[in-house]
Amino acid sequence: MEATLMRAWERPFCGSLRAADVGRRVELVGWVRRRRNLGGIVFVDLRDREGWVQVLARDELREAGEKLSQEDVVRVVGTVAARSAETVNAEMPTGEVEVEAETVELLTAAETPPFVVEDRVNASEELRLRYRYLDLRRPEMMATVLLRDRIVFAIREYFHKMAFVDVETPILTRSTPEGARDFLVPSRLSRGTFYALPQSPQLFKQLLQVAGLGRYIQIARCFRDEALRAERQLEFTQVDVEASFVEEEDIFTIIEGLFAHVFPIVGITPPATFPRMTFDEAMERFGTDRPDTRFGMELVDLGAVAKTCAFEALRSAAVSGRVKGLAVPGGASFSRKQLDELSDLVKPFGAPGVMWFRKTAEGYGSPAKKALGDQGIAAFLQAGGAGEGDLLVAVGGAAKVVFAALGALRMELGRRLGVIPNDAHAFLWVTDFPLLEWDEETKRYYASHHPFTSPKPEDVDTLESDPGAVRARAYDVVMDGVELGGGSIRIHDPALQRKVFSALGIDEAQAKHKFGFLLEAFRYGAPPHGGIALGLDRMVMLMVGKDSIRDVIAFPKTTAGNCLLTEAPNTVDAEQLRELHIALT
Ligand code: AMO
Repeated sequence: MEATLMRAWERPFCGSLRAADVGRRVELVGWVRRRRNLGGIVFVDLRDREGWVQVLARDELREAGEKLSQEDVVRVVGTVAARSAETVNAEMPTGEVEVEAETVELLTAAETPPFVVEDRVNASEELRLRYRYLDLRRPEMMATVLLRDRIVFAIREYFHKMAFVDVETPILTRSTPEGARDFLVPSRLSRGTFYALPQSPQLFKQLLQVAGLGRYIQIARCFRDEALRAERQLEFTQVDVEASFVEEEDIFTIIEGLFAHVFPIVGITPPATFPRMTFDEAMERFGTDRPDTRFGMELVDLGAVAKTCAFEALRSAAVSGRVKGLAVPGGASFSRKQLDELSDLVKPFGAPGVMWFRKTAEGYGSPAKKALGDQGIAAFLQAGGAGEGDLLVAVGGAAKVVFAALGALRMELGRRLGVIPNDAHAFLWVTDFPLLEWDEETKRYYASHHPFTSPKPEDVDTLESDPGAVRARAYDVVMDGVELGGGSIRIHDPALQRKVFSALGIDEAQAKHKFGFLLEAFRYGAPPHGGIALGLDRMVMLMVGKDSIRDVIAFPKTTAGNCLLTEAPNTVDAEQLRELHIALT
């Protein structure tokens, strides 16, 4: 490299040059986005992370310019000039200027990339992930990387001002499954033993409260070996928060303050306080604990009509379980095929199918018409709030199945009918989660959140008599139908912790084996405490308006859990395995 005109940190970014820079002599470094020859001048679009600017190579520089090809790394010294009125490009931020080159130096030649490095890329996601560094070079992707950095900085700024302290907790830790499967790391030094990667820093952040830290924050990497989806990765990042001497209200205020500080970065102004809804209400009205409240189409109870109706399947479902439905405005015109598709949509949730009712100009319609007659159909339509031209869909069965099926149906229909306003946002606290969840398969209760979540004081007495009815001091923050975060006020009283363990079927010996260190710590003065963890990837995803967290993670994994760039996970040498005392079967 020749002697440089400017030190690295004094150089402007190609994409940051503006009219105010006209007349400035600058040194630019970047990648060739495009090169054109026009009227004896070579035009080179030079790109860096902030954008790109047009560079002109004339006269004796023409030859050097003509040799450049896409993605070559180039250094240019030149002077910023104003574009003539007719060549100003209002579409691009640097469109008022261009750079008259005096030197053009090729620093590294690039091979032809496997896809064009432009926002309008026609490469598959697989190819983009395989060459992620080129994908990240695309302006849209790079802008997301930069935005994520700004968001993280603002989060740190906020918590720092609120006297929260950043503490790093171990990545190699002890396996204490919290719900998902652990990633295990075999120990070389201690044959037959394993570390686990943390599913969250939960236990450590509680120990830090026992230590007296008072307010903890960590932008923490978490690992969960669970099925992947658009909003789930094997490793993801939490904004992990814990504080002592707090109640639910304090956590709500802290997070509402955080969002008020961070969301305006992308022009979103959340309400000063978020509406609240209990878990039960969310399930009854939306069929989910993370309702998208930006649109209606709420669930309606059809139990009363179903119980007395002449259609056997619905009647028995109402007696042994629940029958609920939802009215689809204008849905009476759905074709037979569309109606059949609705049934396919609910089958994955264990529902047998969807029953429907409608009244059109042709009269009343329903697969149950024979049994119900017009009057019977009219009764359902009325109970469901569906008028002429609307469609009423109904699902019957166990409450869990009915909620899940209709919750999913509501979202799918909302999308299909285009009634979800993409430019509006809804923030919500969901509270009063059940403390325990019954698992039919293993015939036992599990902690809905985690075993350290405090029950509501007024429900403690029913822990033994009716464990399923006990409500937790747990809460989720939901945005646009996405669970952004969850947390709880914790148990700090060893006697109460024993009671909850017992409801979970965890005996003294098991408790000691699994969480002995935490229980021991609580004997030495545990302050009342509570906290929350936000999914940072999900938060950034919603802020930039993407559909998948893969788009906001620099190096994500596929839904099959693979890193296509490094080809992880991969096989290892027999020697490596031997050292770790591992034999493959
Ligand atoms: P929870 O398990 O609810 O709580 O996780 C908190 C938030 O983390 C995000 N999240 C994920 N994001 C991407 N991929 C995943 N696989 C994934 N799993 C979870 C979600 C979720 O709301 N220790 C508790 C928090 C606490 O009680 O303070 C915990 O981890 O946005």
